[in-house]
Amino acid sequence: MVFSQVHSLGLLGIDGYPVEVEADISQGLPGFDIVGMPGPAVKESRDRVRAAMKNCGFSFPVSRITVNLAPADVKKEGSVYDLPLLLALLRAGGQLSFNLSNMAFIGELSLTGEVRPVHGVLPMVLAARKAGIATMFIPKANAAEGAVVDGITVFAVDHIKTLLAHLSGEGPLTALPKTEFNPHTDAAIPDFSEVMGQAIPRRAMEIAAAGNHNILLVGPPGSGKSMLAKRLPSILPDMTREEALEATSVHSIVGTLPADVGLLSSRPFRSPHHTVSAVGLTGGGAVPRPGEVSLAHNGVLFLDELPEFSRQATEGLRQPLEDQRVTISRASGSLTYPCSFMLVAAMNPCACGYYGHPTRECTCSAHSVTRYLSRISGPLLDRFDLHVEVPPVGYIDLNAKDPSENSASIRERVNTARRVQLERYAGTRIRTNSQLTPSLLRRHCALSPDAETLMESAFDRLGLSARAYDRLLKVARTIADLDGSEKLRIEHLSEAIQYRSLDRKYWHR
Ligand SMILES: Nc1ncnc2c1ncn2[C@@H]1O[C@H](COP(=O)(O)OP(=O)(O)OP(=O)(O)O)[C@@H](O)[C@H]1O
Ligand SMILES: [Mg+2]
Repeated sequence: MVFSQVHSLGLLGIDGYPVEVEADISQGLPGFDIVGMPGPAVKESRDRVRAAMKNCGFSFPVSRITVNLAPADVKKEGSVYDLPLLLALLRAGGQLSFNLSNMAFIGELSLTGEVRPVHGVLPMVLAARKAGIATMFIPKANAAEGAVVDGITVFAVDHIKTLLAHLSGEGPLTALPKTEFNPHTDAAIPDFSEVMGQAIPRRAMEIAAAGNHNILLVGPPGSGKSMLAKRLPSILPDMTREEALEATSVHSIVGTLPADVGLLSSRPFRSPHHTVSAVGLTGGGAVPRPGEVSLAHNGVLFLDELPEFSRQATEGLRQPLEDQRVTISRASGSLTYPCSFMLVAAMNPCACGYYGHPTRECTCSAHSVTRYLSRISGPLLDRFDLHVEVPPVGYIDLNAKDPSENSASIRERVNTARRVQLERYAGTRIRTNSQLTPSLLRRHCALSPDAETLMESAFDRLGLSARAYDRLLKVARTIADLDGSEKLRIEHLSEAIQYRSLDRKYWHR
């Protein structure tokens, strides 16, 4: 045989797609070409495959070798094609005669023939199943991800020799057992019972969790803003299997899955440092990769000390926040990464931190306060559904005998409110109030006449934008859901308005 074809997979955004690795060995000057838009890591495959073949006792063909990665019009990145490439060469050169149809292979090779881990195994196994592949071979170090997908037989291999022994029947491997999905809250997440006092901020966090709303916490140093934000994951509802698969796929292609975790069991919580670049936050780069917004998909993105982030980075959040996905365009095509996340941000109201403090004096000039606050642009501010002041904690609160309500009981109310939303929006792509489209908003957030009057006066008084108006209604909807009320009443709306008045106090908008 001088030609052979081996199935493999590639990645486009967070989705896998089938790739055919075709090898042709023909007469002519010795050479080794890879075509089909290979990236730099794919081109380097040649050297790894050549060394691995020799070191495993095979001869490297001294002929003209052409390898094509089909489809030829999509850019291929990474080292996943090492293994299928080696198999295609062995078959084309007549050194291997096994039937490899209906099997797919991915894996990087070491010079001695070990099969090394690669990124993106989970989405590639999912794509293999979708393409009707019966058996897939993946690197042993990625076994946990391979075990997640049912409906396909997956083998994990650590060396070419183990793979060949299995294919020849001399040393059969056992297929990976399928893992169960067991969603739970990470035990390492701290509990809300430790947050003393702060009734209003605590209530706002509960509303945010119940309706998946973005929330901004403003207050002086040491009032508990970071403390509140870090406890948010403890009151979020469990992920569904579908959500877990989406979130894990992002982490799988970036390589941020913890060792031996195949499927994330709790919602991602990302808190990038404020020195993060715009690309690091929203994604992109020469070899495109998802940013923090996508790593937070189906979970929380927490930006602590919001004004310290570069303006370019925070402004870059505007589009992903609206669209819940990021599209990166390149000459070779465009990629889309999902980013449906809850944005939580914390900040001091000024550089010294005490502007508006009831007892301590702020040492900033009026001009510097304005300049500090203006680091948060109007459009970004508009995208927070809840603006919450976190006042300094009083001595009495701090020394209260009883601990505050714990996360488990808050979470129960959140779960109930989320169930109501899931039922109401069944049959649509919407899961939470925060995702309501304008037409559904009108249908599900109709105001009573007295609430309408209140809304009218608030609209003018607070100088609301159309977006802020919509977001206000969504928050009111969530408050009603927490209250177990299908009707949106005036008290629900007035509580929601409370969480939109902070921009007046600090930003004078
Ligand atoms: N409400 C509270 N109940 C109990 N402890 C609190 C509370 N608020 C703050 N603390 C204590 O103060 C510490 C600092 O709080 P935290 O880091 O959340 O403040 P912060 O508001 O984020 O301040 P900064 O603006 O300086 O970032 C906490 O680790 C905790 O020990
Ligand atoms: Mg803090």
